[in-house]
Amino acid sequence: MPTFRAPRGTRDLLPDDRAVFDRLQRTAASLTARYGYRGIETPLFEQTSVFERGIGEVTDVVEKELFRLAPRSEEAEAWALRPEPTAGIVRAYVQHGMQTWPQPVKLTTTGPMFRYDRPQAGRYRQFWQFDVEAIGDPGPAIDAEIVELGHRFYTETGVKGVEVLVNSIGDPACRPAYMSTLVEYYRAHRDALPPTELDRLERNALRLLDSKDPAMAALNAAAPRITDHLCEACAAHFASVKAHLDALGVPYRVEPGLVRGLDYYTRTAFEYYVAGREGQQQALGGGGRYDGLVALLGGKPTPGIGFGLGLDRVALVLAEQADGEAPLADGPLAVVVGADPEDTASRLKIATDLRAAGLRARADLARRKLGRQLEAAGKDGAHFAVIVGDELAHGDVQLRDLLAGTQKVVPVDDLARDLARAEASHKHG
Ligand code: HAM
Repeated sequence: MPTFRAPRGTRDLLPDDRAVFDRLQRTAASLTARYGYRGIETPLFEQTSVFERGIGEVTDVVEKELFRLAPRSEEAEAWALRPEPTAGIVRAYVQHGMQTWPQPVKLTTTGPMFRYDRPQAGRYRQFWQFDVEAIGDPGPAIDAEIVELGHRFYTETGVKGVEVLVNSIGDPACRPAYMSTLVEYYRAHRDALPPTELDRLERNALRLLDSKDPAMAALNAAAPRITDHLCEACAAHFASVKAHLDALGVPYRVEPGLVRGLDYYTRTAFEYYVAGREGQQQALGGGGRYDGLVALLGGKPTPGIGFGLGLDRVALVLAEQADGEAPLADGPLAVVVGADPEDTASRLKIATDLRAAGLRARADLARRKLGRQLEAAGKDGAHFAVIVGDELAHGDVQLRDLLAGTQKVVPVDDLARDLARAEASHKHG
């Protein structure tokens, strides 16, 4: 057993994992650029009240899962690590007067989030989200645009069979009446409620609906549905979101039990699943509309909508769906090896020149026999070996194509050009 380990619920992303995350982040960056989102970075911690007010005090995320930082004696503010980025981004929107920018303000960020949750597969205490927020557009068209954007992320990263569950959870006009109906329903089943849920019943009955407690499953399945209690405006909004999704051809299913775990949501709510794997722990991502959040955090009332997609879960599903097939390692284009183990200077100089020319190259600096150097280059997944030998006296090296098994003499001066050409034709051919 090693003396030190990564904290419980966290993981080291080793180079193979990091390579997958790099690819996911590149796809996210490419997509958000196409859809007109601009990047934003907010601090990894905020005043605790940003989360308490924004996400809601009677939610799992705030009640149980918030990583609160021990207050420093001289500072009065209480801080917590961000469990999600939406509250911080909306705080920044208000703080920097983004209300005066052209609306909607479309923002995106990707980074680690922190929740002191009970760790298990796909549920970590530090995890990554790809997040987008469009603030200042009441929808409904943009709701569908965002749902489609999230769905496209899964398509472009290669996750198969992703389905969208959508729902409307009403607004301050219709939710209070629904809540009374819901409270009545649960009161009638008091005896069946686990203690935590009983405690929440009078404070925030909506949270019972998305309880992770298996004891709640049957009760929740039979609970009154918000979709049967929507006001006219919310019903029309929801109908239009669905019509837009139909027009875009996004595969979705209405799930009237979907209420999401955070309090700021109004109207549109959605989650992404691999079909057949619905359940609290398996959501690949989720989001929704939050028309009251900007005002809650001190801005003038402004609608907003966004999503957060869990990159750790996407990576897990990709690995499962690849079924043991190793991901392509991004090995070097060329490894510079040499007949004289001691002549590290020549090898290093050639590799340095190739890198200066923009190519992925490394030199074998281990002072071992040529055979061992070539073996290591093969294991590394290199496409070419540049073999430095006696020809160097005349300005030449041997260039071996490790994939094709061919070899030719090339002047050192032409090496970068030859390799660049080979790489381009390999990529496009
Ligand atoms: P959320 O549903 O709490 O929404 O989280 C979004 C996604 O983050 C989840 O669907 C899941 O994939 C991933 N996730 C959440 N907790 C964990 C965990 N402990 N371990 C691994 N992955 C996790 C939000 O956070 C909202 N801010 C989304 C949003 C943005 N709504 C509007 N704008």
